[in-house]
Amino acid sequence: MEQNVFSMPRIGEAAPEFKAVTTQGEINFPSDYSGSWVILFSHPADFTPVCTSEFMTFASMEKQFNAANCKLVGLSVDGLYSHIAWLRTIKEKIEYKGMKNVEVTFPLIEDITMEIAGKYGMIQPGESNTKAVRAVFVIDPKGIIRTIIYYPLSLGRNFDELYRVIIALQTADEFSVATPADWRPGDEVIVPTAGSCGVAKERMESKAEDTKCYDWFFCTRKLDKDTILNKIVKK
Ligand code: BEZ
Repeated sequence: MEQNVFSMPRIGEAAPEFKAVTTQGEINFPSDYSGSWVILFSHPADFTPVCTSEFMTFASMEKQFNAANCKLVGLSVDGLYSHIAWLRTIKEKIEYKGMKNVEVTFPLIEDITMEIAGKYGMIQPGESNTKAVRAVFVIDPKGIIRTIIYYPLSLGRNFDELYRVIIALQTADEFSVATPADWRPGDEVIVPTAGSCGVAKERMESKAEDTKCYDWFFCTRKLDKDTILNKIVKK
């Protein structure tokens, strides 16, 4: 277990495989999600306030993520019956920030042995030996980890940011661009840095209307919001 606790997958690596019991039945990860983007995220414990606010928010946005070909999978080290009871309580009793009657239909993994949490570096002993931190793994349709974000126990995640990450990663793949600080669809995107003196010169001398170079290594171009969303988001 000690070795598992400190295992930390990295961006660009294949997502560690596992079989798990969830609130939606058994899953084989990541093979069951082949062809989709997936956000695998952990939370510290059922029946806790920050986690409840997060689950209500994420469940309310699930359709939006699904439309961008992204599925959600949660995990905590609680057992299946605790998960079921907590999700029932959320649906039946909790009204929060205008959200009510919220049904969590994405799978929530039970991981009492912490085997899966260990594989994904979700147990961080400086924070807690018995609870997972708030980890987020964004995994692409080929099962490769593309983004990792960790938050401590006390800090609820920003789910608009997670949606932005999903759209930005797909935009980078589809249009062979990078996305600058605070990018949102419709903002200018970054074209790959010139790889030769010739291209650097061409870029600086170009009069192309949709491209702007701040210097030879830093050029942006327009990329229309609708062009992105028509490609990435199902209507
Ligand atoms: C919460 O979700 O509220 C929480 C869980 C574990 C530690 C602290 C807060």
